[in-house]
Amino acid sequence: MKFDFGDDFLWGVSTAAHQTEGNNTNSDWWKFETEGKVKGGERSGMACNSYELYRQDIDLAKKLNVNAFRFSVEWAKIEPEEGKFDQDVLSHYADEVSYMRKRGIEPMVTLHHFTNPIWLVEKGGWESKKSIAFFLRYVQKVVETIGDVKYFITINEPNVYVLFGYLSGYWPPEIKDRKKAKRVLANMALAHSKTYDLIHSKVPDAKVSTAMNMASFRPKTPIPLDFLLTKIVNYQYNFAFLDAVFFGKIHSPVGKISLPKGKKLDFIGINYYTRFLVHFGLTPKISSGNLPKTDMGYELYPQGIKDIIKNVWKRYKTPIIVTENGVADEEDKVRIKYILKILESLSISVSEGVKLKGYFHWSLMDNFEWAEGFKPRFGLYSTNFKTFERTLRKSGEFYSKVCSGQL
Ligand code: FCB
Repeated sequence: MKFDFGDDFLWGVSTAAHQTEGNNTNSDWWKFETEGKVKGGERSGMACNSYELYRQDIDLAKKLNVNAFRFSVEWAKIEPEEGKFDQDVLSHYADEVSYMRKRGIEPMVTLHHFTNPIWLVEKGGWESKKSIAFFLRYVQKVVETIGDVKYFITINEPNVYVLFGYLSGYWPPEIKDRKKAKRVLANMALAHSKTYDLIHSKVPDAKVSTAMNMASFRPKTPIPLDFLLTKIVNYQYNFAFLDAVFFGKIHSPVGKISLPKGKKLDFIGINYYTRFLVHFGLTPKISSGNLPKTDMGYELYPQGIKDIIKNVWKRYKTPIIVTENGVADEEDKVRIKYILKILESLSISVSEGVKLKGYFHWSLMDNFEWAEGFKPRFGLYSTNFKTFERTLRKSGEFYSKVCSGQL
């Protein structure tokens, strides 16, 4: 079989600054880790030391034959104090971009990937409307200095950020408050829309989106209430934010806002990992089922991506890019099969007429997996976190063949 999705198809890998670079000392996550809140008391510390080794990492990506690389720039490093921008850090990211270009790799830049500068949190974080202006000022600086970038992700997974930061309280800022959660989502929707306009004013042919975490929700039992609840959860989690910034339709849980007119997505970025079962009861339950699990505890359900893509395409008729997809699998036992199943699903989607423009595997190498610490290993390369040595996994070899058109 061959996976040929067209000459302009982006075959990529995804990473994020806090998870790979190391020394993100001015960020809210660094503080959270210092307070011992990550599993096993782990801290990101030097992470993969990618801030220093970024050129080597780009070379490693090149060895996978990818033609695109999604990475994030770190707000807490670029603007460590309010209004003070670090030129060295900006030049660092500009070099990252130009080195990718030199190696024939299309950069896709994420502007916000879960972390915030501590000063922003002290000013009320994303609960405060002021966050929008702060974010825009930072983005303007980045766009003006980063060089030749066409693909931008404004905010990574606003739904996950709100779920873990403001509903379950599992992540910083450890809040459990529905009202605040709504406000944060509304502020992020507004920030996204304004950022879209700002980027386009500077880079007219830019392609801007968010990377939405999309899960496949299924009713746990055939009872009608499970179906009904599944529909609601599916809408609220997968579509509410996108509908807001695409159609200007404001439905729960996005709080009250008035958005600038027009569609603010040039493509739809989808991060896909797993499915969940939805069950109605005194306390409605969203849980994993009985399928084999990844090291992260996610059910292996690659086929779920097909329906998600189908529904996204039907709703927005806009090009789609899978901005993240991967599996925590330290032993590399299931990754090849999982990627294969994903690619088969993508083939079906393409044959059904979906405009699919890219697939980015999460992740280039093992990295710091947020509150789970270093245990879940998502890399096509394994990382030795003491020596920072990266070693190609069999699945990495497999992916390199896919990307070069051999498979
Ligand atoms: C996604 C995140 C990414 C990584 C993967 C495993 O939700 O965007 O940073 O942690 O999960």
